[in-house]
Amino acid sequence: MSTGAYAAAFQRSLSDPEGFWGEAARAVEWSTEPTSVLDDSNPPFYRWFRGGRLNTCFNAVDRHVRDGRGDQAALHYDSPVTGTKATVTYAELQERVALVAGALRRLGVAPGDRVIVYMPMVPEAVVAMLACARIGAVHSVVFGGFAPAELAARIDDAQPVVVLSASCGIEPTRVVDYLPMLRGALERSSHVPDALVVLQREQSPADLRDDTPWRELTWDDALEGAEPADCVDVEATDPLYVLYTSGTTGRPKGIVRDHGGHAVALRWSMENVFDIGPGDTFFTASDVGWVVGHSYIVYAPLLTGATTVLYEGKPVGTPDASAFWRVCAEYGCKAMFTAPTAYRAIKREDAAGALLAGHDLSRLETVFLAGERLDPDTYEWATTTLGVPVVDHWWQTETGWPIAANLRGLEPMPIKAGSPSVPVPGYDVRVLDERGEPVPPGTEGAIAIRLPLPPGTLPTLWQDDERYVASYLSVYEGHYLTGDGGLVDEDGYLYVMGRTDDVLNVAGHRLSTGSIEAALAGHPAVAECAVIGVADDFKGQVPRGLVVVKGSVDIEADGDRIRSELVQRVRDEVGAVASLKQVDIVPALPKTRSGKILRKTMREMADGKTPAVPATIEDPSVLDRLAPVLRPQA
Ligand code: COA
Ligand code: AMP
Repeated sequence: MSTGAYAAAFQRSLSDPEGFWGEAARAVEWSTEPTSVLDDSNPPFYRWFRGGRLNTCFNAVDRHVRDGRGDQAALHYDSPVTGTKATVTYAELQERVALVAGALRRLGVAPGDRVIVYMPMVPEAVVAMLACARIGAVHSVVFGGFAPAELAARIDDAQPVVVLSASCGIEPTRVVDYLPMLRGALERSSHVPDALVVLQREQSPADLRDDTPWRELTWDDALEGAEPADCVDVEATDPLYVLYTSGTTGRPKGIVRDHGGHAVALRWSMENVFDIGPGDTFFTASDVGWVVGHSYIVYAPLLTGATTVLYEGKPVGTPDASAFWRVCAEYGCKAMFTAPTAYRAIKREDAAGALLAGHDLSRLETVFLAGERLDPDTYEWATTTLGVPVVDHWWQTETGWPIAANLRGLEPMPIKAGSPSVPVPGYDVRVLDERGEPVPPGTEGAIAIRLPLPPGTLPTLWQDDERYVASYLSVYEGHYLTGDGGLVDEDGYLYVMGRTDDVLNVAGHRLSTGSIEAALAGHPAVAECAVIGVADDFKGQVPRGLVVVKGSVDIEADGDRIRSELVQRVRDEVGAVASLKQVDIVPALPKTRSGKILRKTMREMADGKTPAVPATIEDPSVLDRLAPVLRPQA
């Protein structure tokens, strides 16, 4: 355990949070200094840097141009799927962002208004996010892999004035047209935005229409003649963005991120967790639609004056398993960050690491992995193959930055396979039993964080304080419930074992059992259904659907057709990213006497574990009948 910089910082962050974060806040430029660091006058709601005014875009872009970084690369766009590379300097980024901000303003977007960004990994997506921040609008980026039902739920909750999109995304095997999905979503949603702005991509330009209830226009037309807009100061506590994430129900949760706490926390994390400073190059292989992309492709590197890499491709197949090594070598990346599943994909294709040959990785100092548990095999393989520290760190959309990590900038500590190391300063992590009592070291329990959460974490859910309290704060008083289970060892290292609820984590993508179930339930043959996440060597987890069909259905004659229609339905409604490949028709689903489906019990059966069967089960014989279906597959 640390006795040095980490221990001191961690202790101070808990005993003197105002002093600790007040000092960290000096790295951010404020137009008005905050009047308080932590406002704890209204628990369980806490606000950081109240009274402070700033602009996140100014801190991420304009400030660096003013301070002499105008000619430095702000981002390298590298797109093997289109065969394109481009570098955007900070000065160019400022110009592009100001123009899009002006175009948004002309379309009627005012401070506080929401703008949905549904875009692939193109520089315009980053520009769009920063342009919203510039004029005080609230962006809500929706992952391009989500299909109409998911998009519609987000449109209805966020109520955007404008939707910014592109004509298509590009997957290795196909071009994904966005307009059918957008129009499908807008037809379902009750909210109608004023305008839909579409970046035309040559791989599949869209036919825009003039007979829709919303105005459709191209990106170029939206920008034509627009006046560049300056940065507008906002309150530190105003929302910068809303990012929807999956809970157990089909209704996504709108995670709110504020300006002040976010800027301070991300800036602090870059130097202290990731050891990245101004002028360094950082490569995060994720997607701007996920929190990892928001924080570590876009905001943290730019707030730091570093260079970020925007990579539109996959770890394998674009064109091969050397893609990440090429990118790291070509741009001289000091560190890279991705999900363990991406490394498992590379390992599967090139276990010997032969494809490293010819790529100069001498500047790569660290690999960071997060998004799902880093299994010891993948950790060992990556460490041996790359010869650099491979750092697991644990966090969630809700927190926006790591809860537990090995802090490479503050004080590198020994790495233990299977553990994301220690709680990051600011996070008072506790492992609790069912009664809310701390468990001894080595004992598994629910991982909770004592309030207040540090800056940058969610202050609430979008326009739903009640759901925020009910979802996260109601189980253990004074604590935020992470939804993950795990333990702390004798050295204070945390081990995160997985979700204790029904949230799925498929290839580092967080998905809701509820939305997949809603898609299955919409099929006319389905009487009831359940989705469980089963362990998978490659994707960590994959969903499996179990459906009970209506009595009138002839399973013998129509079973195969129904099963394949159900798989297709989930692709069409939720998105291919759900990776649902297997749906079984079963005679019944196990339930408690009050009708709650026993997903956890089924999941344990499918994972080959001894299932915990609650005493309240309605009919235990259902489990016997399910056993052949749920037997672990080779
Ligand atoms: N738009 C449209 N479709 C998308 C998409 C997008 N942005 N992203 C993924 N999909 C599709 C894929 O094409 C695939 O479709 P298919 O079933 O027709 O083949 C499906 O969704 C599943 O995608 P994915 O889970 O990405 O699996 P994969 O087998 O194509 O690739 C990995 C596997 C490991 C390469 C990939 O999952 C990966 O890079 N994961 C890293 C995850 C990550 O960055 N997480 C963020 C947290 S760090
Ligand atoms: P997301 O909100 O998409 O970032 O997903 C958050 C969830 O992913 C967490 O609650 C965990 O279940 C899981 N997760 C993320 N990082 C890790 C990690 N390093 N180790 C274990 N689980 C992780």
